[in-house]
Amino acid sequence: MSDSEKYIPPEEGSIREHVYDGIEEFNKRLPNWWLFTLYIAIVFWVGYWFYYAQSGIPMSDGDKIDAEIARIQAAKLSTDLTIDDPSLWAMSQNPTFIANGKATYDSLCVACHLPSLRGKGENPAAIGPDLTDDEWIHGSAPTNLFHTVENGVATAGMPAWGPVLGTEKTAEVVAYVLSHHQAP
Ligand code: HEC
Repeated sequence: MSDSEKYIPPEEGSIREHVYDGIEEFNKRLPNWWLFTLYIAIVFWVGYWFYYAQSGIPMSDGDKIDAEIARIQAAKLSTDLTIDDPSLWAMSQNPTFIANGKATYDSLCVACHLPSLRGKGENPAAIGPDLTDDEWIHGSAPTNLFHTVENGVATAGMPAWGPVLGTEKTAEVVAYVLSHHQAP
């Protein structure tokens, strides 16, 4: 290679010390557009990470999947509505059933069983018994509860809710009561 053909390096930047396989490297500043892109990416990352991972504002993917599974399960449980102990326990663990049952409970049952469900257990002047303890007047099986809510106890002042609510809403409110208990 003659001297005139020799590559003339740009003025700024020296040659870096290392040589690999005869290849040398200029020591040049990164271009501004490149640096700004990097800085903007860093700032964006902090905001993005904070919003998605820390703020709790958007629903996490796990929660979205849980909600979708609960929705499908609720649809299945109410499509082939079966009133037996395992089904009522399953309903008692389904957020949709619990939420619907709570709405019914809050409008129809609180007067006697209190918002805490603890009835006489919380306030001896309450009319209804405690629904959160393990003492059941009419049996502890989910189907026993269902039967009591559906048919009431005329002699004791527990109204019959079956005619008012129908099977599904009765099952929901029983599921809400059961959600305060440990499934076997
Ligand atoms: C007017 C008052 C009153 C209302 C309203 C009422 N209950 Fe009751 N409930 C009672 C009484 C009183 C008993 C106890 C019956 C007995 O002693 O045999 C009872 C018993 C029960 C039991 C059985 C408890 C056991 O120990 O076996 C369940 C379950 C129950 N209620 C659920 C409900 C639900 C769910 C609602 C709302 C849909 C509701 N109750 C609304 C008064 C009420």
